[in-house]
Amino acid sequence: MASKQEWSASFASASTSAMGFYDEIMVPRLFEPWAELLLDQLKLESGHAVLDVACGPGTVTRQAALRVGPSGSVTGCDLSPAMLDLARSKISVGRGAPIEYLECPAGSLRVPDEAFDVVTCQQGLQFFPDRPAALDEMRRALRHGGQLGVAVWCAIADCPPFAALANALGRVFGAETAKAYEGGPWGFHDSVSLTRLVSDSGFTNVKVRSFELPITFEGGPAQLLLTLRASPVAMTIAELSEEDQLALATAVEEAARPITHDGIVRSHSTSLILTAQVDDE
Ligand SMILES: C[S@@+](CC[C@H](N)C(=O)[O-])C[C@H]1O[C@@H](n2cnc3c(N)ncnc32)[C@H](O)[C@@H]1O
Repeated sequence: MASKQEWSASFASASTSAMGFYDEIMVPRLFEPWAELLLDQLKLESGHAVLDVACGPGTVTRQAALRVGPSGSVTGCDLSPAMLDLARSKISVGRGAPIEYLECPAGSLRVPDEAFDVVTCQQGLQFFPDRPAALDEMRRALRHGGQLGVAVWCAIADCPPFAALANALGRVFGAETAKAYEGGPWGFHDSVSLTRLVSDSGFTNVKVRSFELPITFEGGPAQLLLTLRASPVAMTIAELSEEDQLALATAVEEAARPITHDGIVRSHSTSLILTAQVDDE
């Protein structure tokens, strides 16, 4: 199963219905609150031009559009046509900047040089097959004095609902599957490597901090289990017999028991947020 390349490829070939699980379950509970926090670390001003790399269904993109207002502009880039379909299907942000969505990999952004005041990348960097190339592209897109904001999850143990899913996958499919699941979203959590990667691309004033936010799955372990439909393990799960599907659901229930109260999963997730800038001329 999935290495970071396979996760990236699975996003690229995902169906809109599979990414719909991401958009409906994960975006409001997990990614939207994190997008607010990421943007809070940056100094967005009215009229700014923002580029959101690996924009997915437009989570950070749309909040950035609201923050820079109608005189600003926002561009969202992603390699997944399904994610971009979901992003484009959303109504435009009232009193916000116009948004343009572009299909391209992070290592080859279809944007002009030095055209943006701010570049964001929320939970995308860990999937990129060539991270230095992606950082070089982000730097190329930024004006002098421009700001970068990047978020990557901390270790899966610091994101307990997903650690519970990995644990259940391990019990049903074996340790390799669990490891591959973790290795995608939670596979790049070392702040020293992150700092070095960004500094090596020529960014300055590089700062990394760890943050924690609460998360609730009010639909309980069954709702948590549904998040796997937007992961590369989805196909394998779909092929399971009814009996094995039940075994997986039971394994998720058991693994999530310490964070399940009155049928509701209440826990937290932890992420690194990096900020950096391109020097003024
Ligand atoms: C966990 S989602 C995050 C999406 C969005 N930033 C958010 O906060 O909802 C990861 C995103 O990275 C994108 N992605 C993965 N590999 C990529 C690559 N090589 N180039 C561009 N986007 C990529 C996926 O298509 C997916 O939309």
